[in-house]
Amino acid sequence: MSQKLIVVVGGTGKQGGSVARTFLNLPTWRVRITTRNPTSQAATELANLGAEVVQADLNDAASIEKAFTNANAIFLNTDYWAVWRPLKAALDAEGKSYESASEKAYETETGQGRRAVDAAAKVPSLERFIFSPLIDVIKASGGKYPRSQHANAKAWIANYIETAHPDLAKKTSLIYLGGYNDNPSLTPRPNEATGRYMFIMPLKNTFRMPIIDPSKSTGKFVRALIEDEQPGTKLLAYDTFPTISEIVSSWSNENGKEADLIPISIQALHEKMGMTWEHLDILSTLDETGDYMAGVEGYIEPQQLKASKI
Ligand SMILES: NC(=O)c1ccc[n+]([C@@H]2O[C@H](COP(=O)([O-])OP(=O)(O)OC[C@H]3O[C@@H](n4cnc5c(N)ncnc54)[C@H](OP(=O)(O)O)[C@@H]3O)[C@@H](O)[C@H]2O)c1
Repeated sequence: MSQKLIVVVGGTGKQGGSVARTFLNLPTWRVRITTRNPTSQAATELANLGAEVVQADLNDAASIEKAFTNANAIFLNTDYWAVWRPLKAALDAEGKSYESASEKAYETETGQGRRAVDAAAKVPSLERFIFSPLIDVIKASGGKYPRSQHANAKAWIANYIETAHPDLAKKTSLIYLGGYNDNPSLTPRPNEATGRYMFIMPLKNTFRMPIIDPSKSTGKFVRALIEDEQPGTKLLAYDTFPTISEIVSSWSNENGKEADLIPISIQALHEKMGMTWEHLDILSTLDETGDYMAGVEGYIEPQQLKASKI
C-alpha cells in the first residue's frame, strides 16, 4: 500500500506527540517527526513506534527545509515558552523586569514560524498544512491589551501564511486548542482555614472555557482536518466546553471535596500573586469579550466535523 508522509514539527511535545501517535496508527500514513535532540526519551519512544526521527531546529531554515522533503502533510506547532521561560528566569535572578523576555520570545517565535512556513511553501508534494495558533489578543482587544505575545506571535504566523504564501494558504487549516487540562488555574488549592478548596479565577462564572488534553486529543482533530475537512477550516478543538461554574462543580463531584470559586481581579493577580501581563492580557481580553475565540471568524467546533472517526 502506498503511504503518504506527514511531518510533525514538535513531535516530542504534547501537541505534536499526539499527532505523531495518531498517524502512526493509520496504515495509510508514515510519520516523520522533527526534534533538536533525536536521542531524547520522547524521540526514542516515537522511533520505537515506527516514526522516522530527523534532527531539525526551527531556528535553522536549511534543517527545516530538509525535514519537509516529500511531505504530503505538515503539522506545525511553535513553542514560545521554551524561549521565554529561561530568559525570564535569568532576568528575575538579576532583579530585572521580564518584558525584554517577551520581546525576544516574540521575535524568535515569529522567526521560527516564518522559516517553517517559507519552507512548507516550497514543498511540491504538500497537500495539507496544519498550524496551531492562538487568538490575536491585540486585534481582539482593539489594542487595549498588547502584552500576551505568546498568542500574538502565533496570530502573526497565521496571518503570514495568508499574506506571504497565498498558494500555501489554500492548503492550510488552523487548529485552535482549548485551554490545556493541566493548566494550574484549573487545579484548586486547599484552604487550610476552611478545609475547602479554592478555584482562584478572574473569569466570570458564566464564561465558557474549552478544555483539551493536548497529549491525547490533538491528533484525532488534526487527522480530521487532514483527511475529512476542506483546507481553510479553522477548528476550535476541545474535549469539553464547560462554564467556570461547571468546572468547579465537576471537580467537586469527581473528587468528593467541597470547592468554591474565589473571584479575583486581574490587577490583584498581578500585584498579589505575581502573574505577568504576558499571561494576564489574554485573560483580560477573554473576560471582557466573554469569548475564548475573540476575534476569530468562521471557525467550527468538534461536533461540526464530519465526525465518523472522531
Ligand atoms: N491552547 C492553550 O491553552 C495552550 C496551552 C499551553 C501551551 N500552548 C502553546 O503550545 C506551545 C507548546 O506546545 P506543546 O504544549 O506541545 O509544547 P511542549 O510539550 O513543551 O513541546 C515543545 C515542542 O516544541 C519543540 N521545539 C521547541 N523549540 C524548538 C525549536 N527551536 N525547533 C524545533 N522544535 C522546537 C520541542 O522539540 P525538541 O525539544 O524535541 O526539539 C517539543 O517537541 C506553546 O507555544 C504554547 O503557547 C497553548
